[in-house]
Amino acid sequence: MIRRATAVAHPNIALAKYWGKAEGEGNVPAVPSLSVTLSLPDARLATTTTVTFGDSFTEDTLVLNGTTAEGRPLERVVALLDRVRAEAKTKTRAHVTSSNDFPTASGLASSASGFAALALASTRALGLDWPAERVADCARRSSASAARSIFGGFVELDAMFCRAVAPPSTLDLRVLVAVTTEAQKATSSTDGMILTQKTSPYYKAWLEDAPRNFRAMRAALLEDDFVRVGELAERSALAMHACAMAAGVVYVGGGTLAALAEVRAMRAAGMAAYATMDAGPHLKCLVRAADAEVATARLAAVPGVLRVLVASPAEGATVRAEREETP
Ligand code: PMV
Repeated sequence: MIRRATAVAHPNIALAKYWGKAEGEGNVPAVPSLSVTLSLPDARLATTTTVTFGDSFTEDTLVLNGTTAEGRPLERVVALLDRVRAEAKTKTRAHVTSSNDFPTASGLASSASGFAALALASTRALGLDWPAERVADCARRSSASAARSIFGGFVELDAMFCRAVAPPSTLDLRVLVAVTTEAQKATSSTDGMILTQKTSPYYKAWLEDAPRNFRAMRAALLEDDFVRVGELAERSALAMHACAMAAGVVYVGGGTLAALAEVRAMRAAGMAAYATMDAGPHLKCLVRAADAEVATARLAAVPGVLRVLVASPAEGATVRAEREETP
């Protein structure tokens, strides 16, 4: 018998960031985070993943963007499939094909949309019709930020739960992604977090500050206070990077800092523009829709910025197709 499902998910960026994991098993973030799920016009900026379980398959296989994948990427996929198989009480192997409609160096992590789409497609293929919170929990164990891509709009993730806080239309927001390099990042977020937890003199302060920042962000969002959301987002990003940098983990580059200076210059000139950066050198600028065109042109002119994508709050992960066949 063959059971197959296809799911689509978008990436997300954290406005209030998490950095570091709680002690113990389960890949639980050390602090709560609040993100926005993002897409380009026509719902582009998506990962589409098809999982096919077949009784005749002898091993799990993965085709990533058209190329057969092995090593660490395959191991991470197999680990998620193993958890789903245990829940569905089956040992059937799977073929997974996953492709992004955006390049890896898009400035947005493909692991979030990738593991969200994989968790949704694999559970549905095996007939597990779980609520979104449970699918998110399954995705979180592979990549914590992936849990948030199950939901659309503004999403919170804490030690216990991942859930939608507000729909995509809540805030008049555009996220301008200033791509600063085509290269893969040197330090993975997992390795960067481990180093930070072990050696940053500021990690304890981060653990105290980040939950406060998260609560203030949540309140500002629900009050539709764009300026406060922007201020808190920039503060969260700078605190996270400062904490990581003190452990020798540096994600920003020259282009990032030049783009940050431009965001601050736009703000000094009266535009509500704020910056955030994840575990990579790309800068994301938060602006209102009416300011997006001017801000995009200004960021695109910054030396070191290769291109700028204009993303908007998006819907959560969806199932595109399900099929069951008995040969
Ligand atoms: O969960 P990961 O491994 O994708 O790491 C996410 C780290 C940040 O993007 C910097 C913060 C966040 O909350 O997304």
